Amino acid sequence: MPESADLSSLLVDRNLALELVRVTEAAALAASRWIGRGDKNAADGAAVEAMRRAFDTVAITGTVVIGEGEMDEAPMLYIGEKVGLYAKAGGGPEVDIAVDPLEGTSITAKGGPNAIATVALAEKGGFLHAPDIYMDKIAVGPGLPEGVVHLDASPAENLRELAKAKGCEISDLMVCTLDRDRHKELIKACRAAGARITLLGDGDVAGVINVSQPEAGIDIYMGSGGAPEGVLAAAALRCIGGQMQGRLMFEDEDQVARAKSMGIDDPQRIYSIEQMARGNVMFAATGVTSGAMLRGVRRTPGGAYTHSIVMRSKSGTVRYVEGHHNFARKPSAFVA
Ligand code: FBP
Repeated sequence: MPESADLSSLLVDRNLALELVRVTEAAALAASRWIGRGDKNAADGAAVEAMRRAFDTVAITGTVVIGEGEMDEAPMLYIGEKVGLYAKAGGGPEVDIAVDPLEGTSITAKGGPNAIATVALAEKGGFLHAPDIYMDKIAVGPGLPEGVVHLDASPAENLRELAKAKGCEISDLMVCTLDRDRHKELIKACRAAGARITLLGDGDVAGVINVSQPEAGIDIYMGSGGAPEGVLAAAALRCIGGQMQGRLMFEDEDQVARAKSMGIDDPQRIYSIEQMARGNVMFAATGVTSGAMLRGVRRTPGGAYTHSIVMRSKSGTVRYVEGHHNFARKPSAFVA
């Protein structure tokens, strides 16, 4: 039986994780109004506003460390913003927050697959303060020897080692990456090695998480995408299991200097999953449009269905939550 202090922190942890789902549900519901309407900024804005409002009901003092940008460029959920029920008065658990209220703004605007609303939460100082630049990423699922793949190895070497560890042929492996010109060589190398590839239009948070979901059929994620998205994906893999490495990709000296001011001293460093998301971490996401991980929002007369995932690194429990929302009875902050 845990001591009572342990028990209360356990309950705070558990309840917080479930509160996070309300936050991602609110963002997904708001974004869903904009599916296929050709306006990615409106979709993003709606998700940001709804998520920001929903945070006001969560019993935390939270600091946004991965957010919508700097204070002068983002009106809400900017880096450094305090959010949560106790943001003004102080109190409750002090946590760091990583958000992407709408991961897949263009997907949503086009009505394509795989857009999600997502949030991760860590103890203070738990997240890498990743600047808004690209990150080179590699990820595989759980149950494999530590270090089976490495960012510095070639795609062919990584695929060979992964196939060996999984006891299969390279031709059995499915690689996932973003469909981008910058990945031409990577895609060519994977095909030349004999692997199959799933090319994503957008949305590499879900793309990375898919390596840990057997039903998604993805064996390895490789390639570059947003660094903030890399931290969110690392938080998810800390909970669900899997390996990931990330290296920031600086384009000029200004970016290096800015990263230094955020505490990043070695621009060449390869970050392990624990260096991107340390300690006790929670992750939640709600589907905006349907993908391998989550079903998108389905609207009904006077309400909507949502499908979310919520997980904690401490327990390793992964929950899927189906929300049936009745807008006539819901607090207005959560209606969209
Ligand atoms: P948005 O939600 O901001 O549109 O990001 C979508 C996304 O595909 C991310 O998942 C990914 O990390 C990033 O964009 C890749 O950036 P780029 O489109 O420049 O390759």
